[in-house]
Amino acid sequence: MAPAGALPALPLLLALLGALRPGPGDAQTAVFPTEAILPRGNSVLLNCSSSCNETAILGLETPLTKTERDSGHNWQMFELSDVQEDSRPLCFSNCGKKQTSASISITVFWFPERVELTPLPPWQPVGENLTLQCHAWGGAPRAQLTLVLLRGEEELSRQPAVGEPAEVTATVLASRGDYGANFTCRAELDLRPRGLELFQNISAPLQLRTFDLPTTSPQLTSPRILEVGTVQRVVCSMDGLFPALEAQVHLALGDQRLNTTVTYNKDSLSATALVEGTAEQEGDQLLACAVLLGNQSRQSRRTLTVYSFPAPNLTLIEQEVSEGTQVLVVCEAYAGNVVRLSGVPPGLQAPRAQSMLNATAEDNGLQLSCSAALTVAGQVLYKNQTQELHVLYGPRLDKRDCLGNWTWPEGTQQELECRAWGNPVPQLTCRRETDGALLPIGRLRPVKEHEGTYVCRAVSSRGEVTRKVFLKVCSRNSTNMIVIILVTVVAILSTVVTATYLYNRQRKIKIYKLQKAQEEASMKLNTQATPP
Ligand SMILES: *[C@@H]1O[C@H](CO)[C@@H](O)[C@H](O)[C@H]1NC(C)=O
Ligand SMILES: *[C@@H]1O[C@H](CO)[C@@H](O)[C@H](O)[C@H]1NC(C)=O
Ligand SMILES: *[C@@H]1O[C@H](CO)[C@@H](O)[C@H](O)[C@H]1NC(C)=O
Ligand SMILES: *[C@@H]1O[C@H](CO)[C@@H](O)[C@H](O)[C@H]1NC(C)=O
Ligand SMILES: *[C@@H]1O[C@H](CO)[C@@H](O)[C@H](O)[C@H]1NC(C)=O
Ligand SMILES: *[C@@H]1O[C@H](CO)[C@@H](O)[C@H](O)[C@H]1NC(C)=O
Ligand SMILES: *[C@@H]1O[C@H](CO)[C@@H](O)[C@H](O)[C@H]1NC(C)=O
Ligand SMILES: *[C@@H]1O[C@H](CO)[C@@H](O)[C@H](O)[C@H]1NC(C)=O
Ligand SMILES: *[C@@H]1O[C@H](CO)[C@@H](O)[C@H](O)[C@H]1NC(C)=O
Ligand SMILES: *[C@@H]1O[C@H](CO)[C@@H](O)[C@H](O)[C@H]1NC(C)=O
Ligand SMILES: *[C@@H]1O[C@H](CO)[C@@H](O)[C@H](O)[C@H]1NC(C)=O
Repeated sequence: MAPAGALPALPLLLALLGALRPGPGDAQTAVFPTEAILPRGNSVLLNCSSSCNETAILGLETPLTKTERDSGHNWQMFELSDVQEDSRPLCFSNCGKKQTSASISITVFWFPERVELTPLPPWQPVGENLTLQCHAWGGAPRAQLTLVLLRGEEELSRQPAVGEPAEVTATVLASRGDYGANFTCRAELDLRPRGLELFQNISAPLQLRTFDLPTTSPQLTSPRILEVGTVQRVVCSMDGLFPALEAQVHLALGDQRLNTTVTYNKDSLSATALVEGTAEQEGDQLLACAVLLGNQSRQSRRTLTVYSFPAPNLTLIEQEVSEGTQVLVVCEAYAGNVVRLSGVPPGLQAPRAQSMLNATAEDNGLQLSCSAALTVAGQVLYKNQTQELHVLYGPRLDKRDCLGNWTWPEGTQQELECRAWGNPVPQLTCRRETDGALLPIGRLRPVKEHEGTYVCRAVSSRGEVTRKVFLKVCSRNSTNMIVIILVTVVAILSTVVTATYLYNRQRKIKIYKLQKAQEEASMKLNTQATPP
């Protein structure tokens, strides 16, 4: 390319000179086309011609690379190649002494090399302004270049491209509806006034993620205390989230992350975890729930007291003792617990209590209980242990257990109330003194020849006791005879009465029938006697 500084001055100078001096005729220089628009780097053909009635000298003054392509009488075709920018080449002709010229306006157009949206924040809070910014590098002619910011198909801002890079901004108030929206920037090169098209260059789309996290803390539901070795449920929930599915929940006890199951609803979530108390965690632990959404988080904390509370030990020296034995009962728990032993008045706030028990028959089956109390986080907890005391006694067959005198009517149903007591349970048998006949204990039906004096004997491994029982059976024979006689008499009487009645009735019928027969016979005789 020729140095641009000196050369354009020469045709100007010549033109000036030509204008001053009158030349042959009114010859004119013309060029075709007078205006050209072409993509950057392209070539253009220019036809310079002169209306000179002589042979004119033609020339093209330009800093661009020019090549003579064709020529004829008073015209010359030039090709300007690799046109990089706008320029105004000058076509001149010398007709005789007169020089005239014509200029061409060449406009170069090109598309921006890059159209880019500045990256969006990874997460945009709902209700806050989001500034979108787009840059376009290059592009010409600038007067025809416009930058447009778009949300989907919706135009947010349209501004002419100014500066390098050209910049356009727009502010949008982020809403829940913008979640997933695609933003783009479009550079428009409108060459329609120049007889060309509308060219568009679009940036890569950027997708926005908006979120809404209420300022309230998540709701943390958990027990206040947790026993070592037990498992409890912890629930952390939060409402009004958007988009709930993108939220994360972290539940931790101390520095131990909990395994969490999260269930999502339309705009809420609920996380559940099972927390197990371990011996290492004994004491106050911080239970924390964090809900993370976008680049924000909300936290809730609670204190969970992990405690260890083994049941107290209730010990009897012997589980099974003989009546009258002294039994030592000890109720023992770990330090910090307060124990209470049944039957012992509450006394010292101590982890140990004991008592000496004089085992009686009544104590057999006694439920001894040892209760330990522990205060955890202001809450009193109890753990109890019970043991049953077995006292060996008996056998016992007292008057009230086995009544001595019984009078039963014969043939009735009776029950001998006789019970022997003891541990182990004694075997009870009642035998008649005279013949050793066994009297069944319990239901007896019917009472017959059971009369007699019985010796009831209760036997257990701890000895034997006996008791006499007198059984009298009163006979019912006399009354029965009277009843039988009465019944027989009534039966005989009724038979006689019935028989008499039936006999009389039968006789009456016979007499009636005889009368009827006689009447009929006499009527027949009468009819035969009267002739027609
Ligand atoms: C050209 O035209 C001019 C005037 O129009 C005239 O004076 C001149 O003689 C012409 N020249 C020729 C060669 O015809
Ligand atoms: C150049 O212009 C002249 C005058 O208008 C014309 O006669 C000639 O044909 C043109 N050349 C071409 C190649 O179009
Ligand atoms: C979250 O992101 C926004 C925008 O990107 C920023 O202004 C804000 O400081 C961030 N907040 C936190 C807690 O990181
Ligand atoms: C968002 O920007 C608009 C102006 O563009 C302003 O009126 C409005 O108060 C801003 N809103 C917030 C929440 O910053
Ligand atoms: C945004 O673009 C992505 C991928 O190109 C598409 O899946 C999504 O549907 C678009 N979002 C909207 C709101 O059109
Ligand atoms: C710009 O758009 C035009 C057509 O509209 C296309 O030919 C050109 O390759 C695009 N340039 C870029 C950098 O995308
Ligand atoms: C969490 O649950 C998974 C599967 O349900 C199990 O493999 C893992 O051991 C659990 N982690 C803890 C710390 O309990
Ligand atoms: C235990 O009780 C029995 C009978 O009630 C009594 O004879 C005995 O003396 C008592 N022993 C003690 C040590 O109190
Ligand atoms: C109870 O007895 C068991 C087993 O003998 C023992 O390991 C435990 O420490 C005892 N508990 C108390 C509170 O003494
Ligand atoms: C344990 O004993 C305490 C007091 O002795 C009592 O209040 C509590 O109900 C008992 N608990 C059980 C499970 O028996
Ligand atoms: C049973 O009754 C008789 C008199 O009928 C009496 O002598 C005897 O003492 C009574 N026996 C008992 C154990 O009550």
